[in-house]
Amino acid sequence: MREVVLWPDPRLSTPCAPVGSEDVSALVTEMFEVMYAAPGRGLAAPQIGVLKRIFVMDCGWKDGDMTPIACIDPEILWSSAETGEMTEGCLSIPDAPAPVTRPLEIRLAYTDLTGARIEQHLTGFEARCAQHEFDHLEGRVIFDRLAPDLRAALETPYLEARA
Ligand code: NI
Repeated sequence: MREVVLWPDPRLSTPCAPVGSEDVSALVTEMFEVMYAAPGRGLAAPQIGVLKRIFVMDCGWKDGDMTPIACIDPEILWSSAETGEMTEGCLSIPDAPAPVTRPLEIRLAYTDLTGARIEQHLTGFEARCAQHEFDHLEGRVIFDRLAPDLRAALETPYLEARA
């Protein structure tokens, strides 16, 4: 199984390339394996070193409700004006959760594994998770969403612990 790429690996700061019509089913299977083993609720392809616009998520499995979705070439079509703060963790930044402010609801479009283009209105933890994973495809991590002083307060000890 592939290892999760850890911050500050430069692959986590690189915008990913569109997938288009390429068959990525084997890669998606591998991403779910890595995500469930981690264990996590979401994983983006760059987190296993593949710079393609794909993320997987399953916000319910830890509560016994399996809801796996694979999002290929996702787009955020709309974001609510209302925002909220929540502490987010990231498999690529172990033990350094950070409070991130994001829109509370989004409309997400993506291609699924059958090639169908899907549109979904997401709320709650799913909206949160999808935005976090979408950020990875743009080369953004949770630290990039923080004010500079808070970022320094959280990132400096993280980097020191890994040095
Ligand atoms: Ni993450």
